Amino acid sequence: MPTVTVRTETQADAKQVEKVLFQAFGNREDESELVKRIRQSEGFIPELSLVAEQNGEIVGHILLSKAKVVNGDQQTGVIALAPLAVDPKHQKQGIGGLLIQEGVERCRKLGYELVLLIGHPAYYPKFGFKPARPYGLELKQFDVSDDVFMVCELQDGALGRIKGVLMYPEVFL
Ligand SMILES: CC(C)(COP(=O)(O)OP(=O)(O)OC[C@H]1O[C@@H](n2cnc3c(N)ncnc32)[C@H](O)[C@@H]1OP(=O)(O)O)[C@@H](O)C(=O)NCCC(=O)NCCS
Repeated sequence: MPTVTVRTETQADAKQVEKVLFQAFGNREDESELVKRIRQSEGFIPELSLVAEQNGEIVGHILLSKAKVVNGDQQTGVIALAPLAVDPKHQKQGIGGLLIQEGVERCRKLGYELVLLIGHPAYYPKFGFKPARPYGLELKQFDVSDDVFMVCELQDGALGRIKGVLMYPEVFL
């Protein structure tokens, strides 16, 4: 398999990223619209918008951005992973996994303690994600089953200590 590089997205990548999102999500524009809204929001962290590049072509994209876990009057800054997309022609070659691993590692280095997501329950556990509700994390903005609401612990002890309701920023709603 040709070498795949995972790197920070630049402005010049935007059109190709849009195309990957469009193709990966079944020719719907919802996800690229979501990415545009997040990029323009307060929760955007430029080094957490990553692309996978192969032979000069963008073949995958991941975005991780700021969210909050709210518990009474306490708030903890966490990271929400969404969306993740790999061009259909390049799927099942490990590219999604490379993007998740690099994204999560960057979050850890930035000092974040948890990454949360809504996603495929057969996919994300390969990369350290597990169901979030058993750890006292809740989601009310979206009505989803227990197995798709997942969390990855980045710092020992964070799971179980940080409890409350995950609040996605307005741009996700
Ligand atoms: C999900 C996605 C990002 C995975 O990217 P990828 O580069 O193909 O993933 P990887 O190569 O790292 O992993 C492939 C593995 O995940 C599995 N997998 C992929 N999509 C899956 C899904 N929806 N549910 C369960 N398993 C899935 C594959 O069967 C494969 O398993 P194997 O390693 O045991 O053979 C890609 O399929 C995609 O863009 N899908 C459409 C958009 C989407 O659903 N995004 C995620 C939203 S939560």
